[in-house]
Amino acid sequence: MAKDTKQNHDIKESTKIKAPIVEALKTAYDNPTYQFHIPGHTKGKAIFKDFRKLIGEKALSVDTTDEFDNLGTLHPATGPIKEAQELAAEAFGAKKTFFLLNGSTAGNLALAMALTKKGQKVIVNRNCHRSILTGLIISGAEPIWICPNRIEDWSVWGNISAETIEKTLIENPDTAMVWITNPTYEGVVSDIKSISAVCKKYNVPFIVDEAHGCLWNFNKHLPETALKLGADAVVHSLHKTGGSMSQSSMLHIAKNSCLDVNAIEKALKLLHTTSPSLMLLASLDAARANLQSKNGQNLLDRAVKNAKYLRTRLDNIPNLHQLKGDFGYKTDVTKVFIKIDGLSGKRLESILEIDFNIEVESASDIGVLILCNLGNKRSDFKYLADCLEKIASTNYQDIYYLEKRKHMPMLEPQIKMSLREAFYSEKETIKKEDAIGRISAEVVAECPPGISILLPGELITEEHLPYLNDYKTLDVIVNG
Ligand SMILES: Cc1ncc(COP(=O)(O)O)c(C=O)c1O
Repeated sequence: MAKDTKQNHDIKESTKIKAPIVEALKTAYDNPTYQFHIPGHTKGKAIFKDFRKLIGEKALSVDTTDEFDNLGTLHPATGPIKEAQELAAEAFGAKKTFFLLNGSTAGNLALAMALTKKGQKVIVNRNCHRSILTGLIISGAEPIWICPNRIEDWSVWGNISAETIEKTLIENPDTAMVWITNPTYEGVVSDIKSISAVCKKYNVPFIVDEAHGCLWNFNKHLPETALKLGADAVVHSLHKTGGSMSQSSMLHIAKNSCLDVNAIEKALKLLHTTSPSLMLLASLDAARANLQSKNGQNLLDRAVKNAKYLRTRLDNIPNLHQLKGDFGYKTDVTKVFIKIDGLSGKRLESILEIDFNIEVESASDIGVLILCNLGNKRSDFKYLADCLEKIASTNYQDIYYLEKRKHMPMLEPQIKMSLREAFYSEKETIKKEDAIGRISAEVVAECPPGISILLPGELITEEHLPYLNDYKTLDVIVNG
């Protein structure tokens, strides 16, 4: 079934791919009106000149919001926007797709608001994105934290096992929802099929934050999307790797899901801006159309081949190691997490930046994360591999300041108070060193990857301190 859908994209290549928002915006651009409505820069005429020069008059001309020029509306979805969402649902294999502004964050907030209630239990992985926490703070649902396996050598969270989910469901038979992140930021993939089977066995809705996996349905060498493996809803940050513009994402409801789609739509309406950017919406439409087109398929194919090329080159560099799927779990080949003996990830990041003009996705105390993207050429990877060869064979130890920063705690949270209660409690701001033994009143989460170091309601311990280098003070519960 899943394979069929992946093959369907090949069939579509010979036919003209529709992109209704893109087409409607072009029509509006070609037929300008006398404009007496927002946005007040009026097609860029009233904008700071240097900015206009930088981004161009054409971009400013199509910077408009819904309602005007027959572009349709986002809430409720009408016209080209409705049509584009339907085409996206078909392309991703969903029953219903919502276009998101404010990223997957908006999708996670809407899912929490629509599907969970105060006091309800939701099983969530400890390394979830902070938007899930925010959603649960809003709804008042109680997270039951599960810790994925730890990949200690790399200081990263690994996969989530179906056994852990089942055990937690048995211990908490009143669980209202299971909500997990897949893949991890570094590309580690969990066995979603088995987790989904467990959720079905216990009749619990299953949501997957697939923010980093939006390309999966479009290439057979990438893992299978949770939409095809039994999840009820999935969020995708198309802007991260799918080729749309920053902050544009999608929320998909699976074909066989019984989730209350109406409630999700209502929550989204409350959360979304009332002036959605047509440019962002068009970029989602364009990204979907591109992924279905011959050009997009070639680009994705190239990205996978480039990733394999890079990985082969890296395998031959002494002192350099890459996180690979051969330690008993699967990974997304396009996310390459590497480390070099004797260098912290942060240090490697600055060497790449300062000496080689290379900017990577992120760095931890251990390694750096490289994304093999649709837009990268083979020559980019050749250059990167050449530079890494040089770095690995040079003694950089003494040249740069050695980072003492720690990246991501992989601690079992000691929860002393509910998430929402802690967040809304009376709080005081105290010196970080004085906060040990106190209860956190805030979400402390650095981006990337937006995974929380401290949760509201969590006991602050000495072990947290190395991860809080950038914080002088913390918010704690008064008397807590
Ligand atoms: C797993 C995960 N979920 C959700 C988000 C939020 O995505 P967005 O930036 O599209 O709002 C992120 C962002 O990094 C993420 O890593």
